[in-house]
Amino acid sequence: MEMLKEVKQLKRSFKRKPNIVLVGFMGTGKTSVGKRLSTQLRMRYIDTDNVIERDSQRRISDIFEEDGEDVFRRLESEAVDRVSKLYNYVISTGGGVVLREDNVTRLKENGVVFCLSATPEEIYQRVGHQTHRPLLQTPDAMETIRTMLADRARYYAQADYTVDTTGKSFGEVMAKISNTFFKATVPRKSTKKR
Ligand code: S3P
Repeated sequence: MEMLKEVKQLKRSFKRKPNIVLVGFMGTGKTSVGKRLSTQLRMRYIDTDNVIERDSQRRISDIFEEDGEDVFRRLESEAVDRVSKLYNYVISTGGGVVLREDNVTRLKENGVVFCLSATPEEIYQRVGHQTHRPLLQTPDAMETIRTMLADRARYYAQADYTVDTTGKSFGEVMAKISNTFFKATVPRKSTKKR
């Protein structure tokens, strides 16, 4: 019943074709799922990290190293402001976008926000060996992942829906997102008899 009320509220709140917004921890598949989903649903695709890198002509890791996380978060909020004005997009975001409440509010203005989740073990398997994520370049990446996931849990909980990707194929994750998205946004024909 609660769910039905939420869905009705969501439907009413969109004036134009809404976006699918993907948030979630590093390595939960926001980019790979987002790109595939946009192709499948014939929506456009954008990634806030790419917007930041393109606009600043710098790599995320260089921004962290040279200017620090605060500057990165400011650039991230600017990118969120811009992408929130789009419609009919799949929008992937950086893993820390949820840390600023304003970002989530903006992304929800014209989007349904899905949080992709995964166990710390699976995240470690997917990204533990990679070197381009500044926040995971620590002596014990597994421990860092566990701590950050616990610290961020309440921020990720702001998403409209959470989709667990652990052990799931892209197809399964995409089906879950698109079914939920269409239920939440496409007005149904009335079945009332006249
Ligand atoms: C971050 C995640 C990264 C990137 C930056 C910070 C985070 O994006 O925005 O390194 O705070 O979790 P991905 O989630 O795409 O790796």
